[in-house]
Amino acid sequence: MESATASPATGVPAQGIESLENETRVDQVPVTGEIPAWLTGSLIRTGPAKWEVGERTMNHWFDGFAMLHRFGIADGEVSYANRFLQTKSYRAAKEQGEIVYSEFATDPCRSLFGRVFSLFNPKISDNANVNLTQLGERFVSMTETPIPVEFDAETLETVGVAYDTPGLLTTAHPHMERADGGMLNYAAKVGPRNSYRFFHIAPDAKEPRVLASLPVREPAYMHSFGLTERFFVLAEYPYVVNPIKIPLSGRPYIENYEWKPERGTRFTLIDRKTGDTVGPFETNAWFGFHHVNSYDDEDGTVVADICVFDDAQIVEDLYLERLRAGKPVSEPRFRRFRIDPKAGTVADEELTEQGFDLPRINYMRCNERPYRYVWGVGVGESGWLDVIVRADLSDRSTTTWSQPGHWPGEPVFVARPEAEDEDDGVLLSVVLDEAKGASYLLVLDARDLSELARADAPHHIPFGFHGQFARGV
Ligand SMILES: [Fe+2]
Repeated sequence: MESATASPATGVPAQGIESLENETRVDQVPVTGEIPAWLTGSLIRTGPAKWEVGERTMNHWFDGFAMLHRFGIADGEVSYANRFLQTKSYRAAKEQGEIVYSEFATDPCRSLFGRVFSLFNPKISDNANVNLTQLGERFVSMTETPIPVEFDAETLETVGVAYDTPGLLTTAHPHMERADGGMLNYAAKVGPRNSYRFFHIAPDAKEPRVLASLPVREPAYMHSFGLTERFFVLAEYPYVVNPIKIPLSGRPYIENYEWKPERGTRFTLIDRKTGDTVGPFETNAWFGFHHVNSYDDEDGTVVADICVFDDAQIVEDLYLERLRAGKPVSEPRFRRFRIDPKAGTVADEELTEQGFDLPRINYMRCNERPYRYVWGVGVGESGWLDVIVRADLSDRSTTTWSQPGHWPGEPVFVARPEAEDEDDGVLLSVVLDEAKGASYLLVLDARDLSELARADAPHHIPFGFHGQFARGV
């Protein structure tokens, strides 16, 4: 007899998108292998962990309520803790037994009157399940709504709203301002007139400083942006929305976006100092979530490396119904776009045959600059993310790590202190062991993907998106 949680032959393993109710704290989890003595700090991750509310199930992988997970590492030993983020959205659902806030692809049940009322009293979700960042002394969990949620990195307790965002649609992928350690991010201001805005938050500030503003008629869905020493790099994929239609459409947020490939992909460069814009420069239609890295090349061109898809089908692919039916997901590609502001052209090429997404680089050393290595997760024969990939841009070769029945997440690179080489460090990836029904922290040597150690979590960890390694926590 087939059990309710049996995995389909292809696609995502069932437990990867199975809710986790249990919140726990374990001071020491079993470790096999040897964790490098220099590795001290915490891998903190956020991700969706609960998709059912009352009688309803949310529609999409991205909709689940945010849970924080922390693997604390010191002296070769590992602790583990996990906790739901106590967001307004989560608390309201728990108290009322129904979905109260609109998520990425799921709306509360609303009458027409309710929809009109929501125009004047929008319930914007603060379900910060996408990524987190360290801003000065603060830890902040983020999603694409303008409500970043501060939490205590030690207890994983929710603190409150971290700072103000100057727009309604933002990204959970800020960049670091090297000058002061603050953050740079993008937000789309919507209303009678829409604009893209780039802003800066100083490490201890609550108020943003808007650095640049560009008018736009139909904002594109943008999950991240690129940063060079000189420019913000905006890649507008032709997946666009007329924001004014969202509240009355009767459709969840993401279903208001339309794929318009005839628009192509438009790159705009925004000067970080002056806010002046160059472009847009158009190329073929692509869709993507994650910029990998960008830099100003010596010849005056700007390089933007991005994990892209042929179209926006990946958004459809990640609906829970499709995933639970075992349908494979679109395969990401790793491509380089070279923008020549003088010629007004964009050239693009595939960088590695093996594609991947959830990319990580040696950020502190290489972001905004020429670089050599990327690590990510690729879609293999299973039709789901099942392989850790290391790409070497010097010869465009890839190396992989995989194990049947083991499902790795984003590989977070941590540099060895005193390292000279760009790839001298470890990768930390949370892997689901399907047969065991539990997840573990995998520690790989980032240079060759050889395995150093595993630390067992006490339960399965639903597939999440992003995390950060925090030293000193
Ligand atoms: Fe992301």
